[in-house]
Amino acid sequence: MFSFLRTFSLRAKLIIVYTFILGAGGLITSFIGSLIVNDTIMNQAWNKVHHDIKTARMVYNNQLLQMKQEIYAGACGGNLATLIRNNNRTELFNYLEQIRLENNLDYLTVTDENGNVIFRPTQTNRNGDNVSNIRPIQSALAGEVVASTEILTRTQLANEERDLAIQAHTSLVESPNARPIVKQELTSGLVLISASPIRSNNGAIIGALYGGHLLNKNPLIVDRVWNLVYRGEIYNGKEIGTVAIFFEDWMISTNINTKAGKPAIGTRVPEAVYDTVFVKGDEWSHRTYLVNDWYISRYEPIQNSDDEIIGILYVGLLERSYLAIRNRVVLTFIGVATLGFLLIVLISYLLTRSVTRPLGELVGITQSITTGDLNHEVKVKSYDEIGKLGLSFNTMVKSLKRMKGELEEWGKTLELKVKERTEELEAMQAKVIQTERLASLGQLAAGIAHEINNPLGGILVLSSLVLENLEKEDGNRQNLEEVVKQTIRCRDIVKGLLQFSRQTEAKKSLVNINDILNNTLALIEKQAMFHNIEVEKKFDDNLPLVLVDDSQYQQVFMNIILNAIQSMQEIGTLTLDTFNDEQENMVVVEIGDTGTGISEEIINKIFDPFFTTKEVGKGTGLGLSIAYGIVTRHNGKMTVKSEVGKGTVFTISTPAAAEEDSE
Ligand SMILES: Nc1ncnc2c1ncn2[C@@H]1O[C@H](COP(=O)(O)OP(=O)(O)O)[C@@H](O)[C@H]1O
Ligand SMILES: [Mg+2]
Repeated sequence: MFSFLRTFSLRAKLIIVYTFILGAGGLITSFIGSLIVNDTIMNQAWNKVHHDIKTARMVYNNQLLQMKQEIYAGACGGNLATLIRNNNRTELFNYLEQIRLENNLDYLTVTDENGNVIFRPTQTNRNGDNVSNIRPIQSALAGEVVASTEILTRTQLANEERDLAIQAHTSLVESPNARPIVKQELTSGLVLISASPIRSNNGAIIGALYGGHLLNKNPLIVDRVWNLVYRGEIYNGKEIGTVAIFFEDWMISTNINTKAGKPAIGTRVPEAVYDTVFVKGDEWSHRTYLVNDWYISRYEPIQNSDDEIIGILYVGLLERSYLAIRNRVVLTFIGVATLGFLLIVLISYLLTRSVTRPLGELVGITQSITTGDLNHEVKVKSYDEIGKLGLSFNTMVKSLKRMKGELEEWGKTLELKVKERTEELEAMQAKVIQTERLASLGQLAAGIAHEINNPLGGILVLSSLVLENLEKEDGNRQNLEEVVKQTIRCRDIVKGLLQFSRQTEAKKSLVNINDILNNTLALIEKQAMFHNIEVEKKFDDNLPLVLVDDSQYQQVFMNIILNAIQSMQEIGTLTLDTFNDEQENMVVVEIGDTGTGISEEIINKIFDPFFTTKEVGKGTGLGLSIAYGIVTRHNGKMTVKSEVGKGTVFTISTPAAAEEDSE
């Protein structure tokens, strides 16, 4: 769903998500809040209008009650019955006109017991007409004191007072949604009327007093209600609270003004209101378009004394004013929400900066690391996950650096090692070749030696016998002696060959190699060739024993020492070293001389049988090969190091005897 975010930076993502969540939340909250505000304010308006109609109704009824008291008081006071009986018109006028003016009545009239008008202070010359058909007057003549709302015709009004008929006359004004026009003008009047019986001293009803107010164009009720409930409540120069009285559906008294600024007399209620209130007698509580505005309005019927609906009482509140309040509240609400939203976005912007900045640094350093630059560190400023990331990152860079160094070191040593190993391998290879060569040569030599040995023995025995039997001065004697001498030499060679190939079994025993060396030296020390040789011995006194055939080992050392003396031409230093190579568990003997040394070209051949550089008769070339054979058969090693002009060192390593060898 949010895949489009992938290309955005972390920070943008965070801010977008924040904003989205906040925006959605804010919108929903604002919406719900607005609904609640609207509901609350409108409910308040409706409650108020319900309450207001009650007040209006109370004012209306109070007016009737007040009139009832005024008329009753007038009927009872001032000796009215006597004035009537005496037909004292001046007195009647004085009395009635005083009452009328005191109570501010539009009309006041006295009748006889049959309902014929006796006297009107408003029109003293109009009398004799019968008003007993007017219900409250009827009731008064029957002895009741009453007050109610009634309709008086134009004639009836004119009878009471000429101006009242004029006041009642109302022309039709164009009204929205009103029922179809039935008449163009209204001539009758809606009046508040109260009537009381006039009694003689003996209590007999001799007439009736009635009076009241014409409601048409009379602000009496409307002003009272307005004063009580709406005084001073104005929105944009318009009354918020409105009150009206309707005759049928004609507005006859109101504080609602037309555009021209005159009371909207003559407009009519919408048809729906007429049907509900006037026809059915129900209440009407809906918003209604009246004159030129919408009102939160309430209509109730006005009945006459026969409970017939003759008019409508109305109160209404200018809807615009409540909508304005609502809008103001909602706007304030949304304004505060928006401000909060912006504030939070700003804070989250700053907060995300603190999150993404170290990450950005990290990215930068990573990039420089990929180019091989390991000399950077992240500055850790926090102890949260990002701080920890920075720390781990630094540790990682450090170990990377260390490993890189190690690798470079390693590369260098590896080269050296490879070189060393290659040399070792080459040496080993040469050695193997040599060993193989020696082995095959050894077999060949052994075969030949074996074959030659017996006939040679025969030659020696027989030639020796012949030599014994020969005269001293025999001319052949010298030759024969030579034969014997050469034959002995041959026998020695053959013996050497056999030794080299080792057909004879070794007789091993545990010995100290120092002792073998000493014994060997003792054998040759006294000989003439040794006279000018200096012997330097460096023996290790704590050598482990070795399990060897000591006579064979003696032969090994003998061969080497003799070669050394020959190489030094009998003048020089012979060194004999022994030591224990603990690592290899070998006993090592080093025999060195200060002789001619051995050149590179032949050093690989000196262990070969029959290889010799000595003149014929001096060397057989078998000495070293025999020694080599003996040492290798003892699981030892024999090597040579030499430098031409300086000397040669032979090294003989023999395995130290193990514990079990001593048994
Ligand atoms: N100590 C040494 N100094 C110089 N050359 C030596 C030494 N030992 C041996 N050699 C060389 O090795 C060759 C072989 O020696 P060896 O097998 O004993 O046979 P031979 O002594 O009969 O020649 C010698 O001929 C000599 O060239
Ligand atoms: Mg030799």
